[in-house]
Amino acid sequence: MVNTTASSSKPSACLSWSRVLLSACLPLVLGVFTIVFTMQQNSISIANREQDRRQAIELRQQVMYDAYIKEISKLLLNPSFNRSNRQQLNYIGFKTIDVLRHLNKIQKRDVILFLYNHELIRRDKPENQRVILKGADLTDVHFIRSNSMDCDLRNISLMSVLGSNIVFERCDLNYAVFENAYMVGAKFIGSLMEGVIFNKANLADAIFDGNNMYIVKFLHAILINAKFLGIKPVSADFTNADLLNSDLTPKDLSATTHTFSNTRYPNGSFSVVSNTQLIVDGGAEQRVSLLSLLNYTN
Ligand SMILES: *[C@@H]1O[C@H](CO)[C@@H](O)[C@H](O)[C@H]1NC(C)=O
Ligand SMILES: *[C@@H]1O[C@H](CO)[C@@H](O)[C@H](O)[C@H]1NC(C)=O
Ligand SMILES: *[C@@H]1O[C@H](CO)[C@@H](O)[C@H](O)[C@H]1NC(C)=O
Repeated sequence: MVNTTASSSKPSACLSWSRVLLSACLPLVLGVFTIVFTMQQNSISIANREQDRRQAIELRQQVMYDAYIKEISKLLLNPSFNRSNRQQLNYIGFKTIDVLRHLNKIQKRDVILFLYNHELIRRDKPENQRVILKGADLTDVHFIRSNSMDCDLRNISLMSVLGSNIVFERCDLNYAVFENAYMVGAKFIGSLMEGVIFNKANLADAIFDGNNMYIVKFLHAILINAKFLGIKPVSADFTNADLLNSDLTPKDLSATTHTFSNTRYPNGSFSVVSNTQLIVDGGAEQRVSLLSLLNYTN
C-alpha cells in the first residue's frame, strides 16, 4: 500500500515541480537571451563604428595624399618654378612635413620617392636646390626592394628627419646623407652603403645587417647598442661617435683604416683625444679669432 501511493504520487509531484521550474525558468532564459543578444548587438555596433572610423581615416589620408601630389606636381610643372628659389623649395618642404604627419607608412614612403624622383632631395644637387625636411616624420617607414619597387635611393638626402624604426632593405643607399637624423632602432639590411654620411645622427639600437659599408661617416653619431651583423664597416670615421655597448669587437675596430678621435668605445673607454678636435671644439677657435682680432687692432 505504502509503496503504491508513493509510486503513484511521485510522478504527479514531479510533474508539478517541473512545471514550476519551467515557468520560473522561461523568464530567466528569456532574460539571459535578451542580455546576450543585446551584448552581441553592442559589440557588433562597436566593431562597425570602429570600422567606419578606420575607413574615414583611410579616406582622409588618401584625399590628403592625392591633394599633396597634385599640388606639388602642378607647382613643379609650372614654368615659373625655379629649382634654386628657396621660397618655392621651402613651400614644398613645409607642405611635405605637414602632410607626412597625417599619412600612413606606405604613403609616407611614396612621398619620399616622389621628392627623390623629382630630384628635390638629392645630395648630388647643390644645397640651394634641395628641399629641407627637418623634422619630417618618417617613423616606421619601410623602404624594401620588391618586384614593384626598385629601392634605388643613391644620393638621397634625408637630413634631420625623424625616422625611428625606419627600415631600408636591399636598397641602393650609396652616398646617401642621414646627417642629424633621429633614427633610433633603424634597420639597414643587405643594402649598398658606400660613402653614406651619418654625422650627428642618433642611431641608438640601430641594426646594420649585411650591408656593404665602405667609407661611412659617423662623426658625432650616437651608436649606443648598435649592432653590426654580418659584414663589418670598412674605413669608417668614428670621430666623436658614441659606440657604447655596440657589438663591434676590438678586432672589428682594430682596422687601421678606421678613424677614431674622442670616440667612446663599446667598453666605455675613450680613444685618445685628438688635438685637432680639441682645437675645433674646445674654444681654441675663439682664442684664435681673439688673436687675429688683436693682430688686426695692432
Ligand atoms: C632662380 O632663382 C635664383 C635664386 O633666387 C636666381 O638667382 C635665378 O636667376 C633664378 N632663375 C631663373 C631662371 O629665374
Ligand atoms: C650620385 O652622385 C654622384 C656625384 O656625387 C653622381 O656622379 C652620380 O651620377 C649620382 N647617381 C645618381 C643615381 O644620382
Ligand atoms: C676598450 O676597447 C678598446 C677598443 O677595442 C681597447 O683599445 C681598450 O683597450 C679597451 N679598454 C679596456 C679597459 O678594456
